[in-house]
Amino acid sequence: MRFTQCLVVVVVAFTAGTAQALNYSGPIWVDEVPTYVRPYAIQHYSAGGCVVGSQIYRFPVTGPSSDNAFTLMSTNAPGSDSLGVLPHLHQLHYENMFSFRGRFQLWTEKDGDQETRILTQGDYGAIPQNTTHTFQFLDPDTEMLGVVQPGGFEDLFYALSSSNYSSSTSSPYNPFASTNSSSPNSTVISSLESFDVYAELDFSPRTDAVNGAAPTNSTWRTGPNALPSNAYTPYYVAKDYGPKYLSTEGGYQVIQPLVTPTTSGGNFTVSTITMDRLSRNVTVCDQSFTGHAAFEVLEGQLTVLMGGEVLKLLQGDVVFIPEKTTYKYYSLVAYTKVMLISQGAEGLDTKLIANATSWSSPVWPTS
Ligand SMILES: *[C@@H]1O[C@H](CO)[C@@H](O)[C@H](O)[C@H]1NC(C)=O
Ligand SMILES: *[C@@H]1O[C@H](CO)[C@@H](O)[C@H](O)[C@H]1NC(C)=O
Ligand SMILES: *[C@@H]1O[C@H](CO)[C@@H](O)[C@H](O)[C@H]1NC(C)=O
Ligand SMILES: *[C@@H]1O[C@H](CO)[C@@H](O)[C@H](O)[C@H]1NC(C)=O
Ligand SMILES: *[C@@H]1O[C@H](CO)[C@@H](O)[C@H](O)[C@H]1NC(C)=O
Ligand SMILES: *[C@@H]1O[C@H](CO)[C@@H](O)[C@H](O)[C@H]1NC(C)=O
Ligand SMILES: *[C@@H]1O[C@H](CO)[C@@H](O)[C@H](O)[C@H]1NC(C)=O
Ligand SMILES: *[C@@H]1O[C@H](CO)[C@@H](O)[C@H](O)[C@H]1NC(C)=O
Ligand SMILES: *[C@@H]1O[C@H](CO)[C@@H](O)[C@H](O)[C@H]1NC(C)=O
Repeated sequence: MRFTQCLVVVVVAFTAGTAQALNYSGPIWVDEVPTYVRPYAIQHYSAGGCVVGSQIYRFPVTGPSSDNAFTLMSTNAPGSDSLGVLPHLHQLHYENMFSFRGRFQLWTEKDGDQETRILTQGDYGAIPQNTTHTFQFLDPDTEMLGVVQPGGFEDLFYALSSSNYSSSTSSPYNPFASTNSSSPNSTVISSLESFDVYAELDFSPRTDAVNGAAPTNSTWRTGPNALPSNAYTPYYVAKDYGPKYLSTEGGYQVIQPLVTPTTSGGNFTVSTITMDRLSRNVTVCDQSFTGHAAFEVLEGQLTVLMGGEVLKLLQGDVVFIPEKTTYKYYSLVAYTKVMLISQGAEGLDTKLIANATSWSSPVWPTS
């Protein structure tokens, strides 16, 4: 199999935006998320967290660090007997939930269609604006990855938190925290409209899930999960049951889009990209895009060359790449899987898919 060599990158004029994006000092690896746009990488569990009930929220990408392009958050919690939040909707924010580890149940309702799924590692749920939703942590060590667009949504959790989380041992969450209450209560959740949270206290989460899904005619690990052709229908994609594309740019890459320009109204995209080990004789392409982007490593190790540094990211590490920043990425291990979040409709995933072939497997060919 011959690999495609570098695509010709359309070089965008060097503008004030570039200078601003690269206006930083110090190393790219940081211990705290920057409060302005600059390239950075942050290790898993390093980002500052806050405590909401028994849940710990961390924000590796924030409104300030992305110029409000998106917020990337992770929530660590033990299983609970009750909902992790009371039912509510957002009028302005598009929310996305992904299981990084463990299981949680997600409920969504729009136009009278109530759906629920139990999401385990690699599963995804889309919560467009005005979708009533709630969730519950099920497994003892669960990490929920969230993408919220536009960015800045972390302000809600700062406001709700009882304290900032700190752990000298980087424990994902406090094993001694109480697990018996929905947090916040109905009075508090009803007072959060200034944060774009509208309580939907009449919503009654259905309890009839069979094999992790309801209604019973849902396709959940029984067949493919197509993405909707609009930007308002909530949907779910089980791990490896969504659309897949095989790219040969710089080696093999399997791209699995979770959010496309169509499903986000052109505002952002989210995909997983699984890649093989870089071959010695493959030229790695320079990348540069007109929107901000971030990778979070899900498996393996991602190498990123940016700002004169060689960054090696492991599971849960995040790298933030401002618009118009030139970088390269590849894997030096046999199997690396990342989540990519891109601002706008012209991110790396969209570019790769444009020159990839539709592919039926989550893995690449044997030669
Ligand atoms: C790289 O080298 C291997 C072994 O020599 C060869 O099989 C493969 O086709 C080469 N790949 C490219 C892209 O030239
Ligand atoms: C797209 O991929 C094909 C191989 O799948 C390759 O021949 C072609 O050169 C690529 N196009 C660009 C613009 O790189
Ligand atoms: C770089 O940042 C510093 C401090 O925030 C600011 O004073 C300066 O004007 C910035 N330079 C450019 C070119 O944006
Ligand atoms: C969401 O609902 C609000 C209030 O009904 C409405 O004004 C707004 O247009 C809706 N937004 C979308 C994206 O449907
Ligand atoms: C968390 O820390 C920030 C600053 O680091 C502070 O402004 C905020 O008040 C703290 N929150 C709580 C609940 O202590
Ligand atoms: C959890 O339940 C225990 C026993 O019923 C109670 O004492 C405690 O206040 C509860 N915690 C919360 C946060 O509701
Ligand atoms: C809800 O929580 C708030 C803040 O913790 C508290 O002041 C209030 O009394 C609670 N209300 C009810 C009905 O439990
Ligand atoms: C599934 O069943 C519901 C009724 O429970 C129906 O409204 C819906 O259209 C069905 N969906 C599919 C995909 O058949
Ligand atoms: C996309 O962004 C525009 C502008 O902020 C907003 O009006 C629209 O509702 C967003 N659409 C979606 C699907 O997020």
